[in-house]
Amino acid sequence: MSVVLEPRLRGKTPWFQGDVPADLVPEKYRLDRAFVPKARYLDPEFLRLELDKMFRRTWLMACRLEELPGVGNFVEYEIGSHSILIVRESRASVRAYHNACRHRGTRLARGRGRVGSLICPFHGWRWNLDGSIRLVLDREEFVPRSDDDLGLVGVRAETWGGFVFINMDPDAAPLLEYLDPIPRIFEPFQMENMRYRWLKGVILPCNWKTALDGFLEAYHVLGTHPQLHRFDKSNTNIASMQELESRVWAPTTAYERHAYYASVGRKKQTITDDAGKDPAQRGTDNVTDERLAVALSVQYIADDMRGLENERSWRAAEALKTADVPKDVSAGQYFLELYKNLSLAEGYDWKEITPQQWAEAGTAWNVFPNTILLPNQGSMFMYRARPNGFDPDSCLFEIGSLDLIPMADYDKKRQFQPEYFENWRDADLGEVFNQDLSNAKEVTVGMHSPSFDGHRLSEDQEMTIYNHHRVADRFIWNG
Ligand code: FES
Ligand SMILES: [Fe+2]
Repeated sequence: MSVVLEPRLRGKTPWFQGDVPADLVPEKYRLDRAFVPKARYLDPEFLRLELDKMFRRTWLMACRLEELPGVGNFVEYEIGSHSILIVRESRASVRAYHNACRHRGTRLARGRGRVGSLICPFHGWRWNLDGSIRLVLDREEFVPRSDDDLGLVGVRAETWGGFVFINMDPDAAPLLEYLDPIPRIFEPFQMENMRYRWLKGVILPCNWKTALDGFLEAYHVLGTHPQLHRFDKSNTNIASMQELESRVWAPTTAYERHAYYASVGRKKQTITDDAGKDPAQRGTDNVTDERLAVALSVQYIADDMRGLENERSWRAAEALKTADVPKDVSAGQYFLELYKNLSLAEGYDWKEITPQQWAEAGTAWNVFPNTILLPNQGSMFMYRARPNGFDPDSCLFEIGSLDLIPMADYDKKRQFQPEYFENWRDADLGEVFNQDLSNAKEVTVGMHSPSFDGHRLSEDQEMTIYNHHRVADRFIWNG
């Protein structure tokens, strides 16, 4: 069931009342209209509740299939006190297990690697990749136990779009049902045919939700990334933006669990509009040519963020700068034509994305609870945040840049290595991400001030953040 909660229906239930009766929620954690109390970010007790009640019962994006290229490849996924191994069991199947020996509990494997069987480092018990027990040294000395009792304890693992999700709740609904409507909406973006260009993880001095919140609204763009307004458009979906500018301003849309924001359409009386549409007034370096505005914004994202755009869209943008664009076609539409022709000529699949599909895909989706996906034609970003142990003021934040690969390479395997950094400033993430990540500590320090009680959110542009809390309440307080 998809309940689309129309963001313009302000002040009406259930959008502003949360999903559970208010008296179930302790006052210090209780949501109010567009208000999120700070204890939901700062209290160690609340983090415990998230770990026990929410993360154990939701589908969590654990890795991508390309991180498990061969039989026996594994990736460890840690969250709170849980360590889970995701293992390629066969060409067609991926399984997940709690990473704990059935003998005396030893963690079986760390990080990532490739094994023929899972072997406990302590006394050498072994398991097949399907989790069944293969060897217990001197088994005759133990109380007789069934193989079932000695098998690894499984965790649900299902895939969508090339992502492997896990769920520690054996009774959880299937992944595709949980993700609804994302699989339908993302279908034309072919995420299953994308691969990581890079994946970087950094420790941030903030709550795991603070890390994500910074990517769940475009309201911060003017304050944090003023350079993005050098260009008339900061998004490549120009064809659809034009179409959508005549529509209602509806930046946040929430479904039953997941929500997205779309930075389409411009609302009057924002600072942007005060500056008018004249690019000269926006510090555009005198870019008044629509072709240049589109091309430079594509190339800025491609060069600085190293994601969301790619080397083909960069070249299409370069060609656009001097292209003879027909009068009835926008520069954005023409850019997409150039990009499409380049892609098809070079062996990439190209699915037409209709204006309606662009609109539904929006800018960034919060895949509840802790993943964000930014779809684009040919490339995408994935963000994921997890608590760092039990410290509410620290998290592991990961950014993945993915690109479509040529059709001829769909079956090719390659080894892929993510990179992790203790200090995010060492991660070489570019200007835009550095600006975003600089906010993490400042928000956290400020939130600890006794003067601050909670987030006061824009009812248009920041309800993606509110939606997370609304849905979290359902898991935390309902049973
Ligand atoms: S703890 Fe694993 S074999 Fe003993
Ligand atoms: Fe940002």
